[in-house]
Amino acid sequence: MMKALTFTLNGDQTRVEVDPGELLLDVLRRRLFLTGTKKGCGEGECGACTVLLDGQPVLACLLPAMKVQGRAVTTIEGLGHEQRLHPVQEAFLEKGAVQCGFCTPGMVLSSKSLLDGQPQPSEDEIKQALSGHLCRCTGYVQILEAVKDAAEKMTRAEGRKGHA
Ligand code: FES
Ligand code: FES
Repeated sequence: MMKALTFTLNGDQTRVEVDPGELLLDVLRRRLFLTGTKKGCGEGECGACTVLLDGQPVLACLLPAMKVQGRAVTTIEGLGHEQRLHPVQEAFLEKGAVQCGFCTPGMVLSSKSLLDGQPQPSEDEIKQALSGHLCRCTGYVQILEAVKDAAEKMTRAEGRKGHA
């Protein structure tokens, strides 16, 4: 029997009927048509399906959808849009950290979560935060550069706000 799942999705109260055992990844992609969240391995190994649950990265391919009842989920669609990218998205584009783009949504969301909690992370902290993410294209160097650049952009933006 289908169950009603109610949660906050990208800031909006959302209600969707799901199979009780259905995974969050399938609910996002198949029922809510948010295909920015990617299905790579489907086994918790690649990080492509990463979304934020109450601000923390989780693997949507392992998480039963009913576990997000009453909680807040952020997908890449909730972060920015073409006319107004999030600073992490801007930095990924500027530093050439996006090639095929398959790993990018998960990488961007984990980076955002890191920078929200630690605005000036060390290189090791960045590597640690992204350690569950596989990228077949970039060799990771540009991704590291992008996260450092995003940290600077976000710190500068905060500084401007502080002086406004
Ligand atoms: S698709 Fe979830 S970790 Fe690979
Ligand atoms: S950009 Fe292709 S997998 Fe990372």
